[in-house]
Amino acid sequence: MHLYRDKIFPMMMKKNIGKKSILELRKKILSDAKGEILEIGIGEGTNLTLYPEHVDQITAVDNYIRKIDSSNINVNLIFASADFLPFDDNSFDTVVSTFVLCSVENLRKVLAEIYRVLKPGGQFVFLEHGKAKDKLTSMIQNMFNPFYNIFAYGCNINRQYKYEMVQCGFQLLKFECEKADIYPRVLTGYVYTGKVNKPEKMEKFDE
Ligand SMILES: C[S@@+](CC[C@H](N)C(=O)[O-])C[C@H]1O[C@@H](n2cnc3c(N)ncnc32)[C@H](O)[C@@H]1O
Repeated sequence: MHLYRDKIFPMMMKKNIGKKSILELRKKILSDAKGEILEIGIGEGTNLTLYPEHVDQITAVDNYIRKIDSSNINVNLIFASADFLPFDDNSFDTVVSTFVLCSVENLRKVLAEIYRVLKPGGQFVFLEHGKAKDKLTSMIQNMFNPFYNIFAYGCNINRQYKYEMVQCGFQLLKFECEKADIYPRVLTGYVYTGKVNKPEKMEKFDE
């Protein structure tokens, strides 16, 4: 067993993104979850007790399966990478991601997969940390990203999600940035919460 990778790092992360203020943010985005739900990168299942009461079943994927406590919700847990989701097109009403997009290798591919598996009109709800809006902080984030990436197993602190989501075809419904209690705050304290959807119908253009 690798002490830092298997014990110390997960413990630090759990403390950081499992604290009360962050649980509140999780709850806020999860309140929109409905229908057939897919959670990507479920980890240890921190969100499971935070879904609205009407949710009693979800599908989840992770590319590193850990033990999850799923006593309140029935979880169909599948070992898979979010950039090759093993589901048909138009399968889900809601896709959920919390603190996953920062660490996927190919953000554009993962967003395209989320878009593909969502039903038309389906929604993608997320809570992610990303690039700060002010120039100085984002410069610091850019500078530290290569080091942070090694220390935190592929986590990027300077990702920009809005542009990528729009490029994939998502419609922005809610997109908020706020400062959160995630340490080191200057690097990882800028969190993005929101909801985007896959449009009901593609626009038709006359040739
Ligand atoms: C920081 S943890 C967050 C876990 C959980 N979503 C939460 O909010 O507590 C990131 C999770 O994403 C998973 N992950 C990273 N890249 C992935 C990928 N390409 N496909 C599926 N899961 C991935 C990791 O294994 C890990 O469980």
